[in-house]
Amino acid sequence: MTTPAGRSGPAPGRHFGEEGGLLTYGGYLRLPELLAQQVPQADPPAHDELLFITVHQAYELWFQQLLHELGAARDAMAAAQTWRARQLLGRAHVIERLLVSQIDVLETMTPQDFLEFRAVLAPASGFQSVQFRELEFLSGAKDERFLARFRALTDAERARLAQRLAEPSLWDAFIGLLRGRGLRVEAADQVLASLVTIARDRASHDDLWQLAEDLLTHDEMAGLWRARHVQMVERQIGTKSGTGGSTGAPYLHKRVPLRYYPLLWELRDWL
Ligand code: HEM
Repeated sequence: MTTPAGRSGPAPGRHFGEEGGLLTYGGYLRLPELLAQQVPQADPPAHDELLFITVHQAYELWFQQLLHELGAARDAMAAAQTWRARQLLGRAHVIERLLVSQIDVLETMTPQDFLEFRAVLAPASGFQSVQFRELEFLSGAKDERFLARFRALTDAERARLAQRLAEPSLWDAFIGLLRGRGLRVEAADQVLASLVTIARDRASHDDLWQLAEDLLTHDEMAGLWRARHVQMVERQIGTKSGTGGSTGAPYLHKRVPLRYYPLLWELRDWL
């Protein structure tokens, strides 16, 4: 209820906290359903399994949010709304920093505690995270070999990944913006030359320069996560192979140097 002074307060005869008679906090957020989804499997129970499940589920919620933000940033670039794309990428960066630091929480688990329940996970693995791969595809690293390697995909998941492979990536949208400004983008060397032009003439192209820097930060954050994740993996399981069947840390080390936007990194050489 709003008072004449514009302040809101409880309706007459009701106490603070009783306003949610129709829609409740737990109802709106579907908390009974959400909090019923953490189901440890180990027998006998292992104390740290709840933490392991919670951290992974929190990642998937943030991945969903990131796909929402990055998809909208891509669409904003396609609509030449560079200001909007920058705002959304800025939000994505903050979430990505959170995702890197969230690894600290899981690292409070000792390798011995992890071993109490690790066996019940196999052959499940973060490698099978569909949203993680969607994020890579949407960012521009479209590697369709992952589709063949995901044997347990549902039809809906496979369709989502195929859609991500088919639709424009963030990089495609950025290139479209350059083209719209009359900059040459037909081949990689032309894109690089256009990026140099943008960097040297910020008076004319500052929004494109800032956007390129935002994409680079997104790329850098993804790399930081991969580096941080493999460090944690080595701390937890050393050089043992992964529950997903890979070589474990050696596989993950090979993925650390992946770059979504190699030309943005190469640009530095030419400045
Ligand atoms: C004790 C903690 C963890 C361990 C020991 C671990 C271990 C591994 C290993 C060994 C792999 C390689 C694939 C395999 O053979 O399984 C992998 C991949 C992966 N993990 Fe983890 N992981 C842990 C936590 C996490 C968390 C919290 C996430 C968050 C979602 C995550 C996401 C991923 C992803 C997305 C991949 C695929 C990476 C790629 O293909 O580049 N992992 N993990």
